[in-house]
Amino acid sequence: MKFVRFLMKNAALANVPKHIDHFSKFSPSPLSMKQFLDFGSTNACEKTSFAFLRQELPVRLSNIMKELNLLPDRLLTTPSVQLVQRWYIQSLMEILDFLDKSPDDHSVLESFVESLETIRNRHNDVVPTMAQGVIEYKDAFGQDPVTSLNIQYFLDRFYMSRISIRMLINQHTLVFNGNTNPAHPNTIGCIDSLCDVTEVIRDAFESAKMLCEQYYLGAPELELKEMNCKQSRDPIQISYIPSHLYHMLFELFKNAMRATIETNEVSNNLPPIRVMVALGGEDLSIKVMDRGGGVPLRKIETLFSYMYSTAPRPDFGDNQRAPLAGFGYGLPISRLYALCETCVKFHECLLPSGPHFKHQTF
Ligand SMILES: Nc1ncnc2c1ncn2[C@@H]1O[C@H](COP(=O)(O)OP(=O)(O)OP(=O)(O)O)[C@@H](O)[C@H]1O
Ligand SMILES: [Mg+2]
Repeated sequence: MKFVRFLMKNAALANVPKHIDHFSKFSPSPLSMKQFLDFGSTNACEKTSFAFLRQELPVRLSNIMKELNLLPDRLLTTPSVQLVQRWYIQSLMEILDFLDKSPDDHSVLESFVESLETIRNRHNDVVPTMAQGVIEYKDAFGQDPVTSLNIQYFLDRFYMSRISIRMLINQHTLVFNGNTNPAHPNTIGCIDSLCDVTEVIRDAFESAKMLCEQYYLGAPELELKEMNCKQSRDPIQISYIPSHLYHMLFELFKNAMRATIETNEVSNNLPPIRVMVALGGEDLSIKVMDRGGGVPLRKIETLFSYMYSTAPRPDFGDNQRAPLAGFGYGLPISRLYALCETCVKFHECLLPSGPHFKHQTF
């Protein structure tokens, strides 16, 4: 029996390149935030979502796997990138298993949700593992400007694709696992139609502060100002994915705290981090300001490089503590989260439109 399973698994593996060729001929379907909300709130139909995802996820996985295969051989063959590639192949095979299953069978729908959860967990560490692959490559072969540009281009697309795949998976699993979130009744899947921006800012600040205190035994305070141009007394609420907003703010706060402490080391009185939130008729803007010395203008674009960090490189083996800085991934990935809210491949509109970030040293 074991031998038969082994043969079947190998046969399935041998067919993977064919499936990748087939599904990568399709383009991912653009989905708007409004579509996500409408679908989740009124006519959430698990069968429709199942039928859509068992086609859409292989399309998205195959498209990005095609691009992964185009990476320079010396990067593609690093143990870390090989591991990431195996995760993608495994996940693709698991979804393809559902292609010939009936949406009318309740147990199929249940095991689909379970498979999606397994896939999501399998891919939790894609970002640090990929980062490790790039570092292994850089250490072994150095860095030339053309390859660096190509890697930057690939990683932007790769992580954007990952964000959108996780969003699709989260939406399905959260809407159809039968649980509601009592703390956030307006949440549909991972989208909160009344996302309290100030609350997310304070949460992200507190988490960054805890991390900062572990490293530096101190942290700057937060000074928050709000401006709601619509209703000045109302809390600032937008339709948004709170976890995405949290991620971006957490990264900005970690950076601002590190810069503040390293520039003002001798001072007992750390200057606060100032945040200004403004909700206008169409847009929400969040401005984060620190007194950490700033960055020279000529280096601004470099900040968004996956290979740039001025922090000491963290130890990959050290799972004890999440580093305050070190991979150089905080800003480029936050930019993707900010961009993906308006990206046509992902979702097209926001009501009102998502936050615009501005960072400034004052
Ligand atoms: N507020 C800031 N003030 C001064 N320099 C900054 C600030 N924010 C970012 N930087 C510079 O930009 C670099 C890149 O930031 P980024 O957040 O992308 O990576 P990192 O903080 O080094 O590592 P991590 O992946 O852990 O975030 C930092 O190493 C730092 O030199
Ligand atoms: Mg950072």
